[in-house]
Parts: sequence; C-alpha cells; structure tokens
Amino acid sequence: MIQMYHVHMSYGSDSPALTDVTLRIDKAEFVFITGPSGAGKTSLLRTMYLAERCDSGQILLFGQNVSRVKESKIPFLRRKIGMVFQDFKLLPTRTVSENIGLVYEIIGAPRREIVRRTQQALRWVGLEHKAHAFPLKCSGGEQQRVAIARAVVHDPPILLADEPTGNLDPVLSQEIYALLNEVNARGVTVVVASHDTGWIGRTQKRVIRLERGRVVSGGLREK
Ligand SMILES: Nc1ncnc2c1ncn2[C@@H]1O[C@H](COP(=O)(O)OP(=O)(O)OP(=O)(O)O)[C@@H](O)[C@H]1O
Ligand SMILES: [Mg+2]
Repeated sequence: MIQMYHVHMSYGSDSPALTDVTLRIDKAEFVFITGPSGAGKTSLLRTMYLAERCDSGQILLFGQNVSRVKESKIPFLRRKIGMVFQDFKLLPTRTVSENIGLVYEIIGAPRREIVRRTQQALRWVGLEHKAHAFPLKCSGGEQQRVAIARAVVHDPPILLADEPTGNLDPVLSQEIYALLNEVNARGVTVVVASHDTGWIGRTQKRVIRLERGRVVSGGLREK
C-alpha cells in the first residue's frame, strides 16, 4: 500500500529530515511511527502525503511509483489519503460541519450528498451538537475529532494521523484510538505518528522507530 525505498528528503539546504528510509506498509495494517522530537515523524507522513517531495529514492502508493509524479496529479492521488495534521489545519472561518464537508465541496458533490456524509461523520465522532460551531470554539479533543472526521469522510483507503492524541488526557486519547481502530477495522491502512510513550511500548501493533531521520527498527513487517 505504502512503499518507500532509500528515500532522502531535506528542507532546502538544511541537514536532511529523512535519510535512506526504506519501509513497507501493507493494506489494512495499523502502524505507529515513533521516535524523539525532531526525528522526522511529521516529515515522513508529509512525504507519504506528497506534501514534501523526496530528493531521491522511490515512493509507491497503491503500487504506483509517485516519487516523480507531476504536481498537477497530486490532488487526485491525495483524495485517496486522509490526513490528520499535527496542528489540525481546520479552517477557522468555516463551521465544524463545513470543515468536514470541504472535500466534497472541492469535488463538487451534490448538496444532499455533502449533508448526508457530513452528518454521518459528525455522528460517528459524537459531535452532532457542534455542527454549527466554529473550530476555535471547540475544545482540543473536539477539534481533534473534527480533524479525524474530515480526514475520513470520503472513505480514503489510507489514513495518516500526526500526533492525533498530542496534548489530550489518557481518557480522550483512548477515545481517539478507538476511532482510529474502527477506521482500520473497515480495511483502511492507518499510519499514526506519535511521540515515544509507555503506551506505544505496550501496543501489539507494528512500530516503526525513527532516529535523526533514519528508520532504526520496524520498517519491514516480520513474516
Ligand atoms: N518546514 C521545515 N523547514 C525546515 N526544517 C524543518 C521543517 N520541518 C521540520 N524540519 C526539520 O526536520 C527535522 C524533522 O522534523 P519533524 O517535524 O519531521 O520531526 P518530528 O519527529 O515530527 O518531531 P515532533 O515530535 O516534534 O513533532 C527536524 O530537524 C526539523 O527541525
Ligand atoms: Mg511531528
């Protein structure tokens, strides 16, 4: 589903953010990306999302080599990937429901379809009562759930989530993980970047560990 071979990525002339990254994530897997702050977790997710382009190496999404794909083709590829950003990136001037329905507006879906899908997603994350609120009037945990609803409202086969429980208390974190597990149970490939915590140490799921831009363990699934 997601394959990377010897991927290098740097921001301008700075030292590289990703160095020789090789990994493979299969369809319907649930994988954690972990490592200390600055290790490259966000950079790795952004590279998978094609928000950052790699300097060298190969990236395959859905079996298609996308490392050198034209910028103009990226929006189409991205429709198959849901992304929850570390800082949410919710539009402050749009309501919760408008934020969630944005993908459908972009592709010009019929009004009725947008409303139906948005309501379904709101119900799923338990935020029907916040439909007409603006994101900044929502708590951190609520904004996090809006970001997740927005990322999966169009049923993408891949969901990338960057620190989806950052700053949340343990109870809210469990709720967010329950949502991500539900998405994964529907057959979606889920990749979650998260700081190293005791919690990750106890998970049964695969953990890809990064240090200073390199994969130090877990890049390939043990057979
Ligand atoms: N937009 C940027 N421009 C230049 N350098 C960047 C940029 N974003 C990240 N970096 C650098 O790339 C490296 C990896 O950063 P990244 O944000 O991917 O780490 P991270 O593992 O997600 O950290 P955190 O746990 O703090 O979120 C760091 O050295 C960082 O300073
Ligand atoms: Mg990060």
